[in-house]
Amino acid sequence: TMDAVESAKNKAASMAVDLHIKDNFRIGIGSGSTVVYAVQRLAERVKSEGLKVVCVPTSFQARQLIIENNLPLTDLEITPQLDVCIDGADEADSSLCLIKGGGGCLLQEKVVASVSDQFVVIADYRKKSTHLGEQWSKGVPVEVVGMAYRPVASAIERLLGGKAVLRQAKAKAGPVVTDNGNLLLDWIFEGRHDWKAVNSTIKMIPGVVETGLFVNMARVAYFGMEDGSV
Ligand code: A5P
Repeated sequence: TMDAVESAKNKAASMAVDLHIKDNFRIGIGSGSTVVYAVQRLAERVKSEGLKVVCVPTSFQARQLIIENNLPLTDLEITPQLDVCIDGADEADSSLCLIKGGGGCLLQEKVVASVSDQFVVIADYRKKSTHLGEQWSKGVPVEVVGMAYRPVASAIERLLGGKAVLRQAKAKAGPVVTDNGNLLLDWIFEGRHDWKAVNSTIKMIPGVVETGLFVNMARVAYFGMEDGSV
């Protein structure tokens, strides 16, 4: 049920904040619905324990979350290196290779994760897979420069098979435009893949800005389970 999913997200997020955030930490704040619970828990701890932290957002949404919860906002120009980044995922496999970018924020998420000493994933039980593609059928998001979307889509299909689809907006006619002014392709794939190789192959195509494959970045994930455990 939806209640079980929300409670699973909350438990995973709270546990990650309790175990991974310490005084004076510089924190990357991920994007999506699970991160909302993490920021709320962080704001509680800042208030009750007087923790001093600074937060770097990974999206417009994350920036708003930080501000709404009265947490100190910074950026990678002022604070180029972080202690921890906490973020959700669309799917994680058994080696913690991730698909991210369902919410379109993959580029800033990957940059912020890459400068963090620890990258901690928080998710509900629907995101936990042995192999990518078991739970998440919407494909691998790829952020592309607008004028390149058709050649990039063709190149992905030629090199890797499957289908690369331009993501369309829901509440507007036309494509989704990312926080960085780019477009998104969703690469719908079948079967098993070497995700490190796929990530490199896609990134080398001219016009690609970033992929939603996070390979060898997460070393720990908290999954809220259906039975209430984490
Ligand atoms: C945003 O672009 C994504 O990478 C999110 O991190 C991911 O979609 C997780 O979102 P939820 O917490 O809402 O599932």
